[in-house]
Amino acid sequence: MVRADEGLVSRSIFVDDEIFQQELRQIFSRAWLFVGHESLVPKPDDYFVSRMGTESVILTRDRQGQIQVMLNSCTHRGMKLCRYDHGNNRTFTCPYHGWSFSTDGKLVERPGELVGVPGHATHYKGELDKKQWGLKTVAKVVNYKGAIWATWDPGAPPFLDYLGNMRLYLDAALDHRDGSPGGSEVIGGVQKWRVKCNWKFAPENFIGDLYHDISHRSVDIVGIGPGGGKGRRDPSVSRSAICFPDLGHGLLGRLPYHEEGPYAPQYARYPEVEAYYREIHEKRTRTLGSAMRVQTSVGTIFPNMSFHGRQPRTLAVFHPISPTEMEMWRMYLVDKDAPDAVKEAARHYFLRYSGPGGMTESDDMENWTGATEASMGTMSRELYFNYQMGVGHAQPVPEIPGCAVNGEYTEENARAFYRRWGQFMNGRDWTQLMARAVRIEEQAA
Ligand code: FES
Repeated sequence: MVRADEGLVSRSIFVDDEIFQQELRQIFSRAWLFVGHESLVPKPDDYFVSRMGTESVILTRDRQGQIQVMLNSCTHRGMKLCRYDHGNNRTFTCPYHGWSFSTDGKLVERPGELVGVPGHATHYKGELDKKQWGLKTVAKVVNYKGAIWATWDPGAPPFLDYLGNMRLYLDAALDHRDGSPGGSEVIGGVQKWRVKCNWKFAPENFIGDLYHDISHRSVDIVGIGPGGGKGRRDPSVSRSAICFPDLGHGLLGRLPYHEEGPYAPQYARYPEVEAYYREIHEKRTRTLGSAMRVQTSVGTIFPNMSFHGRQPRTLAVFHPISPTEMEMWRMYLVDKDAPDAVKEAARHYFLRYSGPGGMTESDDMENWTGATEASMGTMSRELYFNYQMGVGHAQPVPEIPGCAVNGEYTEENARAFYRRWGQFMNGRDWTQLMARAVRIEEQAA
């Protein structure tokens, strides 16, 4: 199905229901998945209903301040406990027969324990063992710089090992402007919408498909750059760099031409915003040294999370619904203590650029939907997609840790993504899956 080294990927993996079910078992039940941001649950008992694969999960902050992630399904007859997108609940009470579950460490030994059963003494004669009927919780959960990640697999490696060389670039999307962890917040809520396409089209696009720029030509003509000006990038200041930090993750970065002027101005019309972003860049350049010679642009964490690391920052996640439908979520991150002008400029940019009403996202959705629909037929699903651009031409750039570049246009990262997809689908164990993991600091040593 996937011949990544040859740049060939069967169309069937984008439309076939059996393969889709296998993806849920082999990938979404094992990999580390992005489930939300801590700023969505700022207070004790706050909850946010998220997804892991096709499963509905509750992301909550317990009374002790710890983040917990549990299956949003009552253990009695499976009813959804939380039917709203977010809220604040001391206990999670099922609307069907009234069982209730708690995450309060003072009441229960483990999160999601069953604490209330109507008629426990009378109908059940006191014989139901409540300890046996707690909610299913994830095997591991991590709060990494405000981003919450979880896995169902107790054998999964530590999250930072799973992230490998992508950590540096993900940090650019998560860190506060002074480089400290946390300090960011999601503004404007979470945008959610469904797209009639296979889920893999989106992370594949964000992992480094610069070639599709032609789709957004109208955006450039209209003039919808970050600062509202024409053009989304200035080729005289920087060129794009395809980086593949391995493990199926990947990045489309920007490599500055000029040592002395790596910052690419983008907010000429908004001096306060421009000064703010320039300051961030210069601080990070000092802190991170040569690593920041690549400005994080867009990247993908395998399997289904992508991010924009340059200001303004966004997080996206692509939830599988069926072989031919996904639910796309967008979160927009800003520094909590950013000036109002910066937050306002970011909000305007997000609305006109991304999300279901944004110009670029609309272009992409049209492509992904059309490609999915045109691959569902008996004839078309027997064909292969072509990912052969740049095969055999990757060139390492020694001064950039964990990266390689082979010019502006290549499908190197897409091949890496599908190579990783094949490894998971073939049931490789974690020792095999992590065999090529090398940390940035180890590489630099
Ligand atoms: Fe939840 Fe019955 S389904 S209490």
